[in-house]
Amino acid sequence: MSQDCGATFPFPRPIVSAATPSPSPVAERSAALDDRSFFGHPRGLGLLFAAEMWERFSYYGMRALLVLYLVNELGWEKARATGLYGTYTMLVFLTPIVGGFLADRLIGTRRSLVLGGAIIAAGHFVLAFPGMTAFYAGLGLVIVGTGLFKPNVSTMVGQLYPANDTRRDAGFTFFYMGINLGAFLGPLVCGYLAASPQFGWHWGFAAAGVGMVLGLIAFVVWRDRLLPGIGLPTPRALASAGTESSGANMNPMHGIVGVLGGVALAWLVADGSPLALLVGAIIGGAFGASFLGTVGEERMRVIALFIVAFFVVFFWAAYEQQGSSFALFFDRSTNRQMGSFEIPSAWSQSINPFFVLAFSPVMAWVWLRLGAMRREPSTSLKMVLGLALLGAGFMVLQVGGALADGGVKVSPAWLVVAIGLQSIGEVCVSPVGLSYVTKVAPAQFASLLMGVWFLSNAAANKVSGFLAGFTPLPGEAPATPGTGLVGWIQEMSATNKGFFTIFVISSFAAAALMFLCVPLLKRLTRTVQA
Ligand code: GLN
Ligand code: ALA
Repeated sequence: MSQDCGATFPFPRPIVSAATPSPSPVAERSAALDDRSFFGHPRGLGLLFAAEMWERFSYYGMRALLVLYLVNELGWEKARATGLYGTYTMLVFLTPIVGGFLADRLIGTRRSLVLGGAIIAAGHFVLAFPGMTAFYAGLGLVIVGTGLFKPNVSTMVGQLYPANDTRRDAGFTFFYMGINLGAFLGPLVCGYLAASPQFGWHWGFAAAGVGMVLGLIAFVVWRDRLLPGIGLPTPRALASAGTESSGANMNPMHGIVGVLGGVALAWLVADGSPLALLVGAIIGGAFGASFLGTVGEERMRVIALFIVAFFVVFFWAAYEQQGSSFALFFDRSTNRQMGSFEIPSAWSQSINPFFVLAFSPVMAWVWLRLGAMRREPSTSLKMVLGLALLGAGFMVLQVGGALADGGVKVSPAWLVVAIGLQSIGEVCVSPVGLSYVTKVAPAQFASLLMGVWFLSNAAANKVSGFLAGFTPLPGEAPATPGTGLVGWIQEMSATNKGFFTIFVISSFAAAALMFLCVPLLKRLTRTVQA
């Protein structure tokens, strides 16, 4: 075997210099860690920024079309469309745990990225064909490919920095801006193509595939030069990271014990629903492997991560309404006419990434200033703040929703202000969360635990899609409420105001509970600056 794990798979690597033997991965990596040539950061950060930007361009470009395509083009009923949307977005964030596991155990993050990127691009191109078979096959490919791509690109950002490097948070903020640049442009381009009479839906889907191909090409061409020694399979990665030997050990038996426990619990709670069993198996497996495979301080940090991931579910479940109920509210209940131009509905999806791009540097500056005064909040406290801002955004929508309940088409500004508040909240939760995972996770579990972080989004997307099925639409008679929690949700969802109130309650309740857990979380992660 040659010294490079990415040697021929699945693309030949560019020939750098055939004459000089490459230095060892260990030496290469330590040189890369010292690199400050990209605005004070390692050059590899720029490449990961670009790769993830294009991947997210494809994901969000296509996602912006999904519910609208199902409802407006295929004539699906709203709850069926948002249900499929919920399952799709859940699965997209569920497979990262498997991709993370494969990268940690076997193939390394680099090869996962290339393989995942190719599968995602194939998925979007398949979606460009008409017909339901192509539709489902395309979604399936994107789901599998994202599992291989998404956790591993984030883990690689963490691998650029030595432990306790103070540049890490800033690196993730920048990387997150790459995510959002892609998420901003994707809906604009794909949404424009889909809404345009000359092109149409399938051109929108194909454009997403083109974006992913661009990201893949950039990664394949530059990975050796810009990411030397980074993203190798675990045993060599650990050697090259110079990681002190810790007690952590990834043992498949631990994972199997966890899977059995998770399945048993899901069986008891959800009465054998196949989806619940799958989710139980995955969460159980990840928890079993990482909890039983660690000892002492590392185990405490793993526990902290699972607690944080639990609270973050409440954040994303409300936040992810943007792709579903907000999209429908924007489409049906706001006045999108600007002179002779009607704003395409899918464009509402670019509001949030725009704000994230705008607020990321502001918040990074705020944390720095507070840090200089030794008052920077801990990661978990930032997350509490994020949840509260999310709730505040929904309070704005309570007012806008109440006006729409009166039967008028309201100004899109209500959504814009709400999404603005939520986006500041997101900047307090999400980039710091990614950074947190790479700080607290033992190296052997880096990508698997990144998968756990995304798992909270998976669960949230499912809940979110379910709740979005209750979105009140103008001219539609409210359902007769049933009993229990669902009955309460139905009752609340008779009006826009009531519907948005559900999320005000859930966000503030989660913020309050998490606030109570902050001291515990700090204690569990006291060995790292988190
Ligand atoms: N919107 C961000 C992304 O897609 C964060 C999603 C998440 O972590 N849940 O990367
Ligand atoms: N703000 C969403 C995320 O960061 C788009 O990906």
